[in-house]
Amino acid sequence: MENFNFYSPTEFVFGKGCAVEAGRLVKKYGGTKVLIHYGGGSAVKSGLIDKVKKSLADAGVPYCELGGVQPNPRDTLIYKGIELGRSEGVDIVLAVGGGSVIDSAKGIALGIPYDGDFWDFYSGKTPEKALPVGTVLTIAAAGSEGSGNSIVTKEDGLLKRGARNDILRPKFSIMDPALTQTLPAYQTAAGCTDIMAHIFERYFTNTPEVEITDRLCEAVLLTMIKEAPRVIADPDNYEARANIMWAGMIAHNNICGVGRQQDWNSHNLEHELSALYDVTHGAGLAVMMPAWMEYVYKHNVLRFCQMATRVFGCQMDYENPEATAVEGIRRFRSFLHSIGMPINFAELGAKEEDIPVLVEKLGIGSGKRAGFMELDRNDVTEIYRIAAHASL
Ligand code: NZQ
Ligand code: ZN
Repeated sequence: MENFNFYSPTEFVFGKGCAVEAGRLVKKYGGTKVLIHYGGGSAVKSGLIDKVKKSLADAGVPYCELGGVQPNPRDTLIYKGIELGRSEGVDIVLAVGGGSVIDSAKGIALGIPYDGDFWDFYSGKTPEKALPVGTVLTIAAAGSEGSGNSIVTKEDGLLKRGARNDILRPKFSIMDPALTQTLPAYQTAAGCTDIMAHIFERYFTNTPEVEITDRLCEAVLLTMIKEAPRVIADPDNYEARANIMWAGMIAHNNICGVGRQQDWNSHNLEHELSALYDVTHGAGLAVMMPAWMEYVYKHNVLRFCQMATRVFGCQMDYENPEATAVEGIRRFRSFLHSIGMPINFAELGAKEEDIPVLVEKLGIGSGKRAGFMELDRNDVTEIYRIAAHASL
């Protein structure tokens, strides 16, 4: 195990009806003027925004609001939020929504106290200051409610890039699983896929002797394999929703990733798909991650056998370990298909002829991308090709 520093300061308030806690928590973390940030309408339609406003009013905290965050959030709305936040004297941003809303809120929180262009932090600059962010989560997926990450798309050039720093971890996150019951099945399934992908990005490592994090990762994966189909079959199943929501947080606040090298190339490859075609992040991962696995498994066949046997219930073939590894990947892809996810470019809405564009935008140049297996331009081209043609 490698040395590590794990800092996860978010207060999580979890359970039925807890959105009414918003006002109390904003006050607790020093907020005196709130920017309520939300998406394209689901939180307004469900009455959640009104509930949050009432909670703030009851706590005596004034607010202003900015809706309209779209999935794969754009820099353009963040600039508006920064302007609004400054003119209104906002000192805390409350994101009511999913990963897109939370990431947009984090961008605004970075931009308000910063003299330059907030995009600097999505181009490699280390942030030193950000306003506090609180969240009311409405979809279990991205894990931004506990993570120090924010992923934003720059409209000019369609660049999807991330900022990462512990100061971006929310001060508090309100997590009511019942709020996710209004999600369309596709979004629920895409969220479940993203949660599993966040684990696999950490599971495939070259660091030896990481039994504790391996076992935590496997626990989350087994939970998702049990609960995702339950919730697809019965969207109002609160208990399944609750397990998935907490799994989504655990999958990405890095408790499962400490002390080990991580990969993240499936995410990097997917971000180019969601930037170019505006596809749902989790759906893009359903196409990219099994393709990445098929390309890299020979780098460490036994690690893939571990996944296949411990997570997907395969019998170990000691004569032919590769067959076990390949069967594990096959079961992963068919699981994703069984919950309604696409498995290839055509089902996702991506085009094989765009592969050179996708590769170019990854910006690898003549170098290599680090990870479980280092990848150069030819490697990523081949992974996109596998993804384009994948079948069950
Ligand atoms: O905009 P509204 O109307 O709210 O609709 C949203 C949106 O269309 C809808 N939705 C959310 N909660 C709902 C609901 N509809 C009905 N009922 C509810 N309760 O779902 C759609 C998707 O929402 P979005 O916020 O985009 O989903 P998700 O949480 O999957 O976030 C995806 C974004 O997070 C980034 C992704 O790249 C993508 O941009 N990620 C962020 C990470 C992070 N910050 O740590 C890590 C992830 O790997 C990921 O990259
Ligand atoms: Zn993700």
